[in-house]
Amino acid sequence: MPAAKKKKAARATSAQSPAIEDYLEQIHNLIAGKGYARVVDIAENLGIAQASVTNMVQKLASEGYLVYERYRGITLTDEGRNVGAAIARRHEVLTRLLSGFGLDPELVHRDVEGMEHHISRQTLEVLTLLMEELEANPALVKKLKRKLQH
Ligand code: FE2
Repeated sequence: MPAAKKKKAARATSAQSPAIEDYLEQIHNLIAGKGYARVVDIAENLGIAQASVTNMVQKLASEGYLVYERYRGITLTDEGRNVGAAIARRHEVLTRLLSGFGLDPELVHRDVEGMEHHISRQTLEVLTLLMEELEANPALVKKLKRKLQH
């Protein structure tokens, strides 16, 4: 991988544009779930017009994240897969961290979608450690949950 591309991939897992991250997250999830991603499904899931999705998909193709063939749909390149997996992992860490406190799943989903694009790789590392420690220590979670109920 050329140095310039490597730099871009490293950035993509922390502060890539939210819109690009939303697309890569959607495409990654669609492929993980049903094996393929189509413009119509991305448009529906993101609530965006198909023409806009097609434009963005073409942009992502020109940036090396995916391959788009009108009749065969969308496949991720290695880089697109790496970035998509990192985005999905980040979503999962934040979800598990908040869900551990028994928050409403709807609320957790909304908050995770809102904050996931705005945290740095370093902050994610901290939150990942916290999540792992909390999951390994149910007594501490119980204690913290009691403090939340006032
Ligand atoms: Fe997400």
